[in-house]
Amino acid sequence: MKYNVAIDGPSGAGKSVIALKIAQRFNLTHIDSGAMYRVIALKAVLNNIAFNDEDKLVDLIHNTKIRFSRDKRVFMDEDDVTLKIRQEQISLGASDISKLKEVRRLLVLAQQEMAQAKNCIMEGRDIGTVVLPDAEVKIFLTASVDVRSKRRYFDLLAKGLNADLEQIKKDLILRDHQDSTRIESPLKKAHDAIELDTSHLSIEEVIEAISLIINEKVRKDECHD
Ligand code: DC
Repeated sequence: MKYNVAIDGPSGAGKSVIALKIAQRFNLTHIDSGAMYRVIALKAVLNNIAFNDEDKLVDLIHNTKIRFSRDKRVFMDEDDVTLKIRQEQISLGASDISKLKEVRRLLVLAQQEMAQAKNCIMEGRDIGTVVLPDAEVKIFLTASVDVRSKRRYFDLLAKGLNADLEQIKKDLILRDHQDSTRIESPLKKAHDAIELDTSHLSIEEVIEAISLIINEKVRKDECHD
């Protein structure tokens, strides 16, 4: 059976690491939709384009090739920007540009095209609601702000980047607010998504829970075929 898995939730809820491991376990293609907003935010900075200049950002999207390699690296045209897009300035920039209607429309189209052949696991904010409303499995991951801030802090340190826990927490609260109150496809749980609070769960526990949901879904649908 061919199927898509949508994983949504706020920053730091564990979407990336979980999506990556589920992709390996179920042999799915992993697509990090947030990385696409981040690439455009990075290119905007490099070209001195303001995060609210929609026309220039749209132009930029038309002239940018975003590519994910098999070993999970992110490319902006020919440049490997895997680490650069994780800087805090780019996190906030990605959140800023993701408010713009035409920016979203173009990136959503690209995401839908990537998932057309199915057997994808895509993570983001609007995957279950807008990008893949027909996804066979929808998960909404959450965790407390404190837990999410600490995760991001240790993540950045592990990558050898600078990190300030208090600043990360402030930025996270700001980004949560921006992402869930924007007019265009705000972060929202799809009515048919299963919510998992990961605050007190290990990565393995979350993976087991999601694996059960996928197995259940796939088995049920195969019985109906
Ligand atoms: O998942 P992330 O933190 O890498 O995403 C960066 C920003 O991009 C996030 O603050 C909001 C935006 N985003 C979005 O609006 N829709 C998505 N599907 C993914 C990310």
